[in-house]
Amino acid sequence: MTTLPKNPNGCPYLILAPMEGVGDRCFRKAMASIGGFNEAVRDFLRVPRNAHIKSLACAYVADELNPIPLAAQIMGSDLDLMAEMAREIESRGAPRIDLNCGCPSNTVTGRGAGSSLLKEPDFLHQVAKAIVKSVSIPVTVKMRSGFEDTSLFRENLLAAQESGIKYLTLHPRTKLDGYGPPAKWDLIAEAKALLHIPVVGNGDILTVEHAAAMLRTTGCDALMIGRGSIINPFIFHEIQASFSGIAFKPEWEALVRYFEVYLEEFPLDMPLRTKVNKLKQLFSFLFKANPELLKRRDAILTSACPDPQAFIDFALPFLRAGWGY
Ligand SMILES: Cc1cc2nc3c(=O)[nH]c(=O)nc-3n(C[C@H](O)[C@H](O)[C@H](O)COP(=O)(O)O)c2cc1C
Repeated sequence: MTTLPKNPNGCPYLILAPMEGVGDRCFRKAMASIGGFNEAVRDFLRVPRNAHIKSLACAYVADELNPIPLAAQIMGSDLDLMAEMAREIESRGAPRIDLNCGCPSNTVTGRGAGSSLLKEPDFLHQVAKAIVKSVSIPVTVKMRSGFEDTSLFRENLLAAQESGIKYLTLHPRTKLDGYGPPAKWDLIAEAKALLHIPVVGNGDILTVEHAAAMLRTTGCDALMIGRGSIINPFIFHEIQASFSGIAFKPEWEALVRYFEVYLEEFPLDMPLRTKVNKLKQLFSFLFKANPELLKRRDAILTSACPDPQAFIDFALPFLRAGWGY
């Protein structure tokens, strides 16, 4: 039976979630400069019906976060193309391949991709199995709890497990839920009771206390964190520290370095305006960590700054004061 490794301090395996748009290479590299997590998952690579696999797979760079492993996630519904993409990704050095069964949009990928796979457990099984059969690295599934409702929840879990995947990550909201209602952690406990493969718990972990509560109430084997890591890039270290019993104090210099890395990773051809907007998006999350900053967020984010460095120079002092450095 597969198990997920624990950290030497007893802390379960911690995974940085895939987040298309926000959690891009800049963010992943910046997060890796802070560390604390065991693995990251790249945001999904779409595999549309007319896909040219070799050029699509180029977007995945296995050693991007070296030495932290970066898993690849693929999204699509054509069995042959998904298998071919998986083989190509494997040849590029991926440690594992994750099948996306959660994305609400399937306009590009056609029938049954992303969360639509949850409407047909048999088809989900076929897609996952096609990938499992085509590679020798671990294959995993990341899924929501259902499409419009949870009526097929257990069928989907079993269909995924029976395809031969190594483990499953559950974000316990339906596609219809979007990000609205709180994640239903009791469904993670239900998955854990039903399956014999490991279950990674995901959804609404914003603090160390949430992480502890998720582990305690669901019995999940590992944790995946997305938005909580944008709000607080030190969250993984804080969780690790809660297991080591050593107080963790984030260093301001580490956050400054985080922004340096973020800026360094901007593609050279990205327009200045887009760079500033991306930074504003990042700061809008970071300001959520503190009620005082949250009050001033709109004023800071609507500031007119001509370039990314000017925005950092303007916004960082607010962050520093808000975080009490
Ligand atoms: C902006 C954004 C983009 C996302 N992109 C992906 C994605 O590419 N693949 C995926 O499986 N999940 C994606 N998700 C879902 C997250 O991985 C995660 O399951 C969800 O945000 C719940 O976890 P959290 O509360 O820790 O953020 C995305 C979420 C957000 C907010």
